[in-house]
Amino acid sequence: MPRVLLTRRIPSSVISLLHPDAHVDLYEGGGAIPRDELKRRLADKDALICVLTDRIDGDVLDAAPALKIVANIAVGYDNVDVPAARARGVAVTNTPDVLTEAVAEFTWALILGIVRRVAEGDRLIRADGWKGWALDFMLGAELRGKQLGIIGPGRIGRAVAARAPAFGMSTVFATRDKGLDRLLVTSDVVSIHVPLAPETRHLIDRRALARMKRSAFLVNTARGPIVDEEALAWALGERLIAGAALDVFNREPDVPSALREFENVLLTPHLGSATRETRTAMAELAVRNVLAVLRGDEPLTPVRA
Ligand code: GLV
Repeated sequence: MPRVLLTRRIPSSVISLLHPDAHVDLYEGGGAIPRDELKRRLADKDALICVLTDRIDGDVLDAAPALKIVANIAVGYDNVDVPAARARGVAVTNTPDVLTEAVAEFTWALILGIVRRVAEGDRLIRADGWKGWALDFMLGAELRGKQLGIIGPGRIGRAVAARAPAFGMSTVFATRDKGLDRLLVTSDVVSIHVPLAPETRHLIDRRALARMKRSAFLVNTARGPIVDEEALAWALGERLIAGAALDVFNREPDVPSALREFENVLLTPHLGSATRETRTAMAELAVRNVLAVLRGDEPLTPVRA
């Protein structure tokens, strides 16, 4: 019977889809599986179901001679060395589509949260700092009539854009190499929706931040390293932008203290796809990819990098 390693707990209803076709080895250690443990457990496995905190590189793949598939429970797959997997005949799959709407909704939660100072107000009340209503108290920015700049016109970027008319915003799109400068110069909210790749690492650097309007907000729900965090802290310190909302960070779960110090930075712990419905759908898609490959069929959502 084929053997499947699961590096994290997923809903039991989803695990049960693997029975009776496969034997499941579930890592129950809590948190990320240590690398040695991952390699040891992979030695006799045919399939791996992993998450974005697991770095799957050539070294790990070499510890898994019988492996046929790496099913990543995430749409992003920068944690997997796809060429190394291909070279070893191992399929790689991700979980596109099922999380698009959840991430788009969360992106709007961040946009509204930062422009209307939601978390800042919450902090103020909890610190007993609220002295009462005033006409000019804690004013935010209005979205109506403003421009949303979306870097990355993929599935998630388009789903975010689809919600913009409800707030009276116009939208412009850019890719990393087309239209980015113009987007940065003209947008009131800049939202990042590109995958992390060597070409997008630190795409938002000092130069990019300096191009943004002083009244503009930066939102990142994609991957932390797309934004140079040091450059962002500099831009915030110099008041080159109005604020930032970040769901992802360079070295999660570390969040630089330089960013925590700003009231005009909204910080969330990588929650973009974190709804019960979506996380279940992501796990189920990963399992269905594994079942397809173990049956000898094509995977449903292969990564073709
Ligand atoms: C989450 O970050 C994902 O890529 O699905």
